[in-house]
Amino acid sequence: MSNVFSTTPLFAGQAQRIVDAGHDLRGSDAKVRMPRREILAGIVDAEGLLCLLGDRIDEEVLRAGRSLRIVANIAVGHENVDVDAARRLGITVTNTPDVLTEATADMTFALLLAAARRIPEADASVRAGRFPTWRLDQPLLGLDVHGKTLGILGMGRIGSAVARRGRLGFGMHVLYHSRTRREELEREIGAELVSFERLLEESDFLCVHVPGTEETRHLIDADALARMKPSAVLVNAARGPVVDEEALADALEAGTIAGAGLDVFEREPEVHPKILALSERVVLAPHLGSATRETRHAMVRLAVDNVLAVLAGQNPITPVN
Ligand code: DGY
Repeated sequence: MSNVFSTTPLFAGQAQRIVDAGHDLRGSDAKVRMPRREILAGIVDAEGLLCLLGDRIDEEVLRAGRSLRIVANIAVGHENVDVDAARRLGITVTNTPDVLTEATADMTFALLLAAARRIPEADASVRAGRFPTWRLDQPLLGLDVHGKTLGILGMGRIGSAVARRGRLGFGMHVLYHSRTRREELEREIGAELVSFERLLEESDFLCVHVPGTEETRHLIDADALARMKPSAVLVNAARGPVVDEEALADALEAGTIAGAGLDVFEREPEVHPKILALSERVVLAPHLGSATRETRHAMVRLAVDNVLAVLAGQNPITPVN
């Protein structure tokens, strides 16, 4: 029997799997982020830890978990975990790739469409009793999506899923800029690998799908935004710090670009006040990429699979170190 500590309440069926495997499951039953001191206290005699992106699992926490064998992050990103320290301490770190790819791609496309067709503004208008007469110069004129150029920055799993939606669902021409060339996808949907500059200059819709690292911080800065078309829409459902939020707000305000769909922010849960002040063609969501019932269950299932495998002396299913 091992002690498993979770910083978040798990779905009942998944919690039961841990108990059924003979382990003792402790942790949070609160719906708010667990304070760090509780994590430090709870981890002391734990061999398995289940945690969220918002939990900072640094060397201090890892060392506090003297018996710790696995940190199972319930997210595909793992920038909250000091993976190098974990490696040095012999602790396995796992994440939840694949199971959230399609849901996050759906959310990216939802933001793209909502910004292009001004859905939140339209919704607010109808609810406020403003139902303008049907006329050619409708106050809520939007932008065509079909047949336009879709730019993908970071053609990983989620970027590829968005690219397929754009090409196969909306007849879009797909450009991408990525560390790795994706020849199979090029054959499948005619995606074209281009320089970062060309991606910025030619995309009608630019979707960010790079991970949050030191190298990607502010990749979309004032200079990058200045290269984009005035009719372009930027969509970020990856990581907030990739986009310089202040520069984005200024570009939107100045009309350097036409709109934005943002699911992630530089300093979540804070949102830059200049971004909050913009409403035309700017759609905001509170980090909902993977937030569907099915996907969240699949993420927890995979995280629990990883914990049970490692505690049983088997290889983790989705290790990151
Ligand atoms: C992830 O899994 O990294 C997502 O950002 C969480 O929704």
